[in-house]
Amino acid sequence: MEKPIIVERQGRVVIVRLNRPAARNALNSEIMLALGNELAPLDRDPGVGCFVITGSDKAFAAGADIKEMAEKSFSEMYNDDFFAGWDRFAALRTPKIAAVSGYALGGGCELAMMCDIIFAADTAMFGQPEIKLGVIPGMGGSQRLTRLVGKAKAMDLILTGRMMDATEAERCGLVARIVPAERLMAEAFQAAETIAGYGKAATTAAREAVDRALEVGQREGILFERRLFHALFATADQKEGMAAFVEKRSPNFEGK
Ligand code: HXC
Repeated sequence: MEKPIIVERQGRVVIVRLNRPAARNALNSEIMLALGNELAPLDRDPGVGCFVITGSDKAFAAGADIKEMAEKSFSEMYNDDFFAGWDRFAALRTPKIAAVSGYALGGGCELAMMCDIIFAADTAMFGQPEIKLGVIPGMGGSQRLTRLVGKAKAMDLILTGRMMDATEAERCGLVARIVPAERLMAEAFQAAETIAGYGKAATTAAREAVDRALEVGQREGILFERRLFHALFATADQKEGMAAFVEKRSPNFEGK
């Protein structure tokens, strides 16, 4: 049987490819479990500095697996807390780049938004079409999309179910970079290597601080940032980074 995800480590970067191309990478329980189980140990590995999550050329992921969900009852969904496994993915502390080519719809768009940065191929299409199925986003889409792009665009996408292309997605702040499709993985890998080259405490603190901006008021957020900034002076990487600058050499961060 084909593996639901293909995990390949290249130095400090881990590339994770969703592997149901014939089903447009529809996100079934196997994919959810595999991501949770296989990425957790890598997340704890100090030698891993960044994940790149990607799909196929045609689809990053076309959403939750509709065929798996279609016949479920309310109590099955509720009692199993269906989709709760995705919270494990969202909670990974290592920086995650989503490299999106083709469709990122429903749960696929939500998976991309659980990552820290989204790079889009010029072929990418984003959308939350759940309304067409008689439901609404269920993996955080109504919350994350609204925080990322604002109410106007989020309501437009979620209520009409339409797709937006990479240009619109970049314009409204969902996407960090648009890249020609054939360069997508090279560009995502290069950014991942850059991130993975920094001290892990610093990248973790940077993620936490930026994410905090979406959660709390500015005064609390700035206080949180200041405390993390101060705390980083307890790390060897801060000493190394600043000494390297003063000595006009490249730093060698050891994640300590
Ligand atoms: C299950 C899916 C699927 C999905 C595609 N497939 N998306 N199977 N769940 N989400 C399957 C198709 O059934 C088909 O299987 C095969 O993949 C190829 O799909 P096609 O439609 O033939 O491909 P194409 O014409 O290229 O169109 C691609 C597409 C379309 C635009 C992405 O497949 C599509 O609209 N998919 C559904 C998108 C969607 O509604 N996503 C939201 C899901 S709900 P066969 O066996 O025929 O080859 C969701 C909810 C989150 O994410 C929480 C809510 C509770």
